[in-house]
Amino acid sequence: MGEEIIVWCDDNSGVCVANAYCPHLGADLGPDVGGCVRDGRLVCPFHGFEYDTGGQCVATPFGPAPKAARLQVFEAREIAGLIFAWWGLGGRPPQWHLPPDELDQAGWSNHHIWISRFPGHPQETTENSVDLVHLSHVHGYDSVSRVDPLEINGAFLRSRFDFCTTRKIAKVGRMRFDIAANALIHGLGYSFVEIRERSIGLDMRMWILATPVDGDVIELTIVSQAGPIRRPNRKIAGLAFLPVRFRAPVMNRFMAVFEKRDVLQDVPIWSTKQYRSRPRLSRTEGEIGQYRAYCAQFYSGPSATADSDTTAADQSAAN
Ligand code: FES
Ligand SMILES: [Fe+2]
Repeated sequence: MGEEIIVWCDDNSGVCVANAYCPHLGADLGPDVGGCVRDGRLVCPFHGFEYDTGGQCVATPFGPAPKAARLQVFEAREIAGLIFAWWGLGGRPPQWHLPPDELDQAGWSNHHIWISRFPGHPQETTENSVDLVHLSHVHGYDSVSRVDPLEINGAFLRSRFDFCTTRKIAKVGRMRFDIAANALIHGLGYSFVEIRERSIGLDMRMWILATPVDGDVIELTIVSQAGPIRRPNRKIAGLAFLPVRFRAPVMNRFMAVFEKRDVLQDVPIWSTKQYRSRPRLSRTEGEIGQYRAYCAQFYSGPSATADSDTTAADQSAAN
C-alpha cells in the first residue's frame, strides 16, 4: 500500500502492525537500522523510545514517555499463524472483518509459503476463483464443473467447483487428481480455499493473498497446508512407509510444486492484461458479472463506475 510497515510481537501473543517510522524524530524502526524488540517492547534505534504492542510509547531512556508518542497502528488479526492488517483509504476503519480463526491445526502440516511480485491487481487475481473457463484453457484441468451457485453476502463470496487434473511426476508416471475446491473470499486481498482431493483422500488448505505494493505491483502470497492422512485411498509411492505425522508435510511440499506451476501459468497473463470494465462475456460466464458487481463495494469514488477500459494498475491508482 505504498507504506513501510513494521510487525512485531510480545511474549503474550500481542501483535503490532504499524507504520515503520518513529513518532519522535522519525527514525526507521526496522531491524536493518537497529530497531529491536526487548522485553516485548519495540525499541527505537535513534533515542531508545520503547513502544508496546498497542503502539503506545511507554518508556524513554531519559524522561517521561510523551503521551502523544504513538505509532500509527493498523488493526491486525492472526489466522492460523498468519498476520493480517487492515489498511483503509485515508485511515478508514475496517469495512469488513476476516472470518474468526477456528481452524483445527491437529495433524496439519506447517505452512508452505511462496511469494511472488508482479504488475497486477487483487481484483484480477481473485477473479480466477470464478473464471472457471480459464481452468481448462490455461491450467489444462478437465471435468471442470460448478457445484453451487456463487454465494455472495456483503464482503463474503463463496465459489465451489470440481475439477480433475493429470500430472506427470518423475519416476511415478502420470497421476490423476480429482479435486473439490471451496473458495471462501473475504474482500479482494483474502482468498481461502479448502481443497479435497478425492482419489487419495487428502485435505488441503490454501490462502491466496494479494497485497498491493504500490499502484502497479502486487505481492501474491500463496500459503498451503496439508491435512492428516491416515489411510490413503490409493497407493502413493513411499507414503505408506512414512509415519503418519510426516505424511502431511511431505504431501504439502509435493502439492506446492503444482500450485506454483499453476500460478506461474497465470502470472504472464495477469501482469500484461488490460482491465475490461465491460467484458464481452459468453452466456455461460454469468459469474464474472456477479463477481464484478460484488467487487464494486470495495471502491470509492467515480472510477468504480467508470466505463472506459483501463489497465488494472490505472484503476488501482485511481482508487
Ligand atoms: S526517533 Fe525514535 S526515539 Fe527518537
Ligand atoms: Fe489461474
